[in-house]
Amino acid sequence: MNSTTNEVPAAPIPLSRKPSERGGPDTPAGGRTACIRTFGCQMNVHDSDRMRRMIQDAGYAEVQRYEDADLVILNTCYVRENAVDRVKGHLGELNRLRREGRVKRVALTGCVGAAEESQSLQETYNIDLVLGTHNTYELAEFVGLPTMRETYTPELPGTEGEHSAFVTIMTGCNYQCSYCIVPTVRGRMICRPMESVVEEIENLVAGGTRYVTLLGQTVDAWRYEGKRFCDLLEAVSEVAPRVWFTTSHPSNMEDRTLRAIGERDTIVKRLHLPVQSGSDRMLKVMHRGYKAERYRRKISVFREAAPEGTLSTDIIVGHPGETEEDHQLTLQLVEDCEFDSAYIFKFSPRRGTEAADLPGVVPDAIVQRRFLEVLRGVEQNAFRRNQRKVGNSEEIFIRHGATEDGKAIGETWSGHAVHVDTDAAPGTYVAATIESAGPHVLYGRKI
Ligand code: 5AD
Ligand code: SF4
Repeated sequence: MNSTTNEVPAAPIPLSRKPSERGGPDTPAGGRTACIRTFGCQMNVHDSDRMRRMIQDAGYAEVQRYEDADLVILNTCYVRENAVDRVKGHLGELNRLRREGRVKRVALTGCVGAAEESQSLQETYNIDLVLGTHNTYELAEFVGLPTMRETYTPELPGTEGEHSAFVTIMTGCNYQCSYCIVPTVRGRMICRPMESVVEEIENLVAGGTRYVTLLGQTVDAWRYEGKRFCDLLEAVSEVAPRVWFTTSHPSNMEDRTLRAIGERDTIVKRLHLPVQSGSDRMLKVMHRGYKAERYRRKISVFREAAPEGTLSTDIIVGHPGETEEDHQLTLQLVEDCEFDSAYIFKFSPRRGTEAADLPGVVPDAIVQRRFLEVLRGVEQNAFRRNQRKVGNSEEIFIRHGATEDGKAIGETWSGHAVHVDTDAAPGTYVAATIESAGPHVLYGRKI
């Protein structure tokens, strides 16, 4: 499972055609309807927006109630302890509606979809489609859009929440990682002009936005008219009260940027830097363009710049040709880098990528074992690191107001997710003492 729910996964964005081209909202093709239910954080809201565009492109009209929907999409969150129970409650209700001939298909997406439990949920509740956070775009095929190549575009509009905004600074990707479909479907990198980004953020902040996330497949590769990503980040950190960015590529990550994270008060001290493997041999097969040692060096710069900061990564297990020795090197890197969280992916062949045709396919049982070993390594480290926070007083940015259990979800300046008992509104700050910690989340009490 993903050991964090707060990432923005790299996923292509569907082409939102004009209403006239897709039949218009009043005349959905075949009169199909869909209901999207979103749980959890702003990232999930953003993912739901993307899925909303897919279902609209496919000619579905969006409805608000399960009983009016042909297709129900549960975009789930794993942060809360009772998350799975809540989802089960919804799945039970959906099965009842299905028996009554109303809801026809159910898709489970988001962090519960990425969790191990999703398999048993799928069997118990006859779920038609289960997607994790990294492959949300597969919904496009499920809802009948022709092919990814035809339905995806580099157009990547930001979304606005009440207090948080995602701002796209670049689209596409100039890398050709062996396993990755993104360059095929999204094309080469296009960077947005600096003035346009800063202006958008100024407007957002004037309108009440408190938290800006800079988005792109390789944001640290951004460059425009002689300016580099660090210039942009610094400019944004001057105008936004709180900034984070994702996702980055180790080959582009400059020490200057890592140091800016530590130095600038408005930048959240949280780095997501996908490594994919700890083996130089595999990094070469994957065409990642760096060696494990270089990655380790970047991490030590980050740890030095922001000792309290959080570090997350992406790791692929079972890429074709991955040997036991390669896997052991990944485990060693996990141990050395002490990630605070990681997205761990089992290799999945994507048609049209180099890796899909490579020999040396790793048997499922081995992939599963390696997955669990990497997961265990990440979680042990994360748990240990989170334990160090217990007893600290932290300033917490409230991302989601309290639900029935009285707990709000917030984020520390070091990028930790915190559950805290407060009725403070999203977008505000509260001070809290960290009372306990799990591998994924801290638990705080308002001071
Ligand atoms: N199989 C498994 N994981 C993949 N990723 C991208 N493509 C694949 C694939 N074919 C993962 C990478 C990337 C993240 C967004 O998704 O780890 O960093
Ligand atoms: Fe895919 Fe590699 Fe580009 Fe990331 S850097 S989007 S993994 S091709």
